[in-house]
Amino acid sequence: MTRIAVLGSTNMDLVAYTARAPGRGETVTGREFRTVPGGKGANQAVAAARAGGEVAMIGAVGDDAYGTLLRDGLEHAGVDTDLLHTADGPSGTAHIVVDDTGANAIVVIPGANGVVTALGPGEIAAIAESELLLMQLELPLSAVVEGARAARSQGVRTILTPSPAQPLPHELLDHIDLLVPNEHEAAELSGQAEPHAAAQILLRQVPEVVITLGAKGCLYAARGGEPVLFEAPSVNAVDTTGAGDTFVGALAVALGEGRPVAEALAFASAAAALCVQKPGASTSMPYRSEIEAS
Ligand code: ADP
Ligand code: NA
Repeated sequence: MTRIAVLGSTNMDLVAYTARAPGRGETVTGREFRTVPGGKGANQAVAAARAGGEVAMIGAVGDDAYGTLLRDGLEHAGVDTDLLHTADGPSGTAHIVVDDTGANAIVVIPGANGVVTALGPGEIAAIAESELLLMQLELPLSAVVEGARAARSQGVRTILTPSPAQPLPHELLDHIDLLVPNEHEAAELSGQAEPHAAAQILLRQVPEVVITLGAKGCLYAARGGEPVLFEAPSVNAVDTTGAGDTFVGALAVALGEGRPVAEALAFASAAAALCVQKPGASTSMPYRSEIEAS
């Protein structure tokens, strides 16, 4: 099995569904409330575990009830949580308002994620024992840089999802093997709205890029080669939440198994297409048997 370390966030998503989102100073009565385990790190960990990876989660939850639920959820998905610390104080939370048009507004409070500013010897050892390290940008940048550097120095392949998009320092990009932005993140990072143009700019900083393009599929580009567009399976999408995280988790598993890039992208696209056909994020992530059967 592919050993994958995920260095990233764990959040409880607190979702309010309402016909219309409130304006400033306004109160509205909503329809429904749901708590859903989330955080890009935890979502990628669940996706990779279900896709057939042996996954260790590095990060932190709080010492509140959400922390227990988040840890249990990861363990239930088969993710190793020995390096998911329990920090004093609240877990990370995302406060999400979804209106009837499907538009959302989100406040993220990092909570315990914010205390992960540096890595200890246990985390460094776990990264060194992995074939791949998955990272996003929902932990303090200092920890992400340290993880990327540790992975590189041990020959561990590094994959970064640059979300939420922000200017990235060279000390991070210099240690990234594969960057996987969505279309918006690629545009923001490169200053180029067109994906081929964005890929060319990003390849100055990292050797390989996959720009995910929603229902259009993804654009793969590597230094010295022509960019290639991989179409997504045509499916009836009901909820695209978590599609990107499902894609990256499955991609990591397939790459870790040594599959050629085209095959790994097909596996990732199949996994993400299954995710969008069901409501929810981590609950709709497919198992390996479903991906292979699709
Ligand atoms: P994110 O969820 O990070 O915004 P995207 O929207 O680009 O990322 O979706 C990630 C991947 O999920 C796409 O590259 C594609 O493979 C798959 N995907 C997303 N939306 C659809 C869809 N409507 N139909 C089929 N596949 C989809
Ligand atoms: Na979904």
